[in-house]
Amino acid sequence: MTAQYDGVAGRMAEVERVIGPYRDNVEIPTVLEAIGSLAGTAVLDAGCGTGIYTRLLHQQGAAQTLGVDSSPAMVAAAQETEKRDPLGIKYKTADLIHLEPRGVFGLVTAISVLHYADTKHALHRMCHRLFAHLRPGGRLVAVVRQHRPAHRRRPRCFVRRPAQTRP
Ligand SMILES: C[S@@+](CC[C@H](N)C(=O)[O-])C[C@H]1O[C@@H](n2cnc3c(N)ncnc32)[C@H](O)[C@@H]1O
Repeated sequence: MTAQYDGVAGRMAEVERVIGPYRDNVEIPTVLEAIGSLAGTAVLDAGCGTGIYTRLLHQQGAAQTLGVDSSPAMVAAAQETEKRDPLGIKYKTADLIHLEPRGVFGLVTAISVLHYADTKHALHRMCHRLFAHLRPGGRLVAVVRQHRPAHRRRPRCFVRRPAQTRP
């Protein structure tokens, strides 16, 4: 995963141009509506990539925002933007599976990240880890892109409360 994204980090502007209309008109408004106000909230953007969402989330009034990604090149690109236009966001290079859970975040986001877990077990581990970063009552908001054609999809909706999923 790291190698894949290290390889494309320099071309993310090109990728964003292609997916921009979908992001701007569908994905971003949906995510922002789902998260609501972030006033005073500590936010972890898990799998932050170049920091597009990290910056958007911070601008919703987050008290502190941390972006984490396993790709050093993606984190470097995010830090470069932060340097050019500082918002006070911190970035860290780490695999989410190994990031020490602190249980302090009011919101954890995983935008287009969970589908990189390549087995059911890996997905379970990843979700478990992400929940462990939440403070009691905190929320995990994830976007998982569906690449199967619409007629082969089974609509599914998962609602889980962090407090019930803690070990
Ligand atoms: C499709 S990009 C999405 C980036 C960002 N969330 C966005 O929506 O612009 C997926 C990102 O997840 C990161 N990623 C995937 N698996 C990860 C893991 N186990 N730990 C940390 N980052 C991971 C990749 O390095 C990549 O930057």
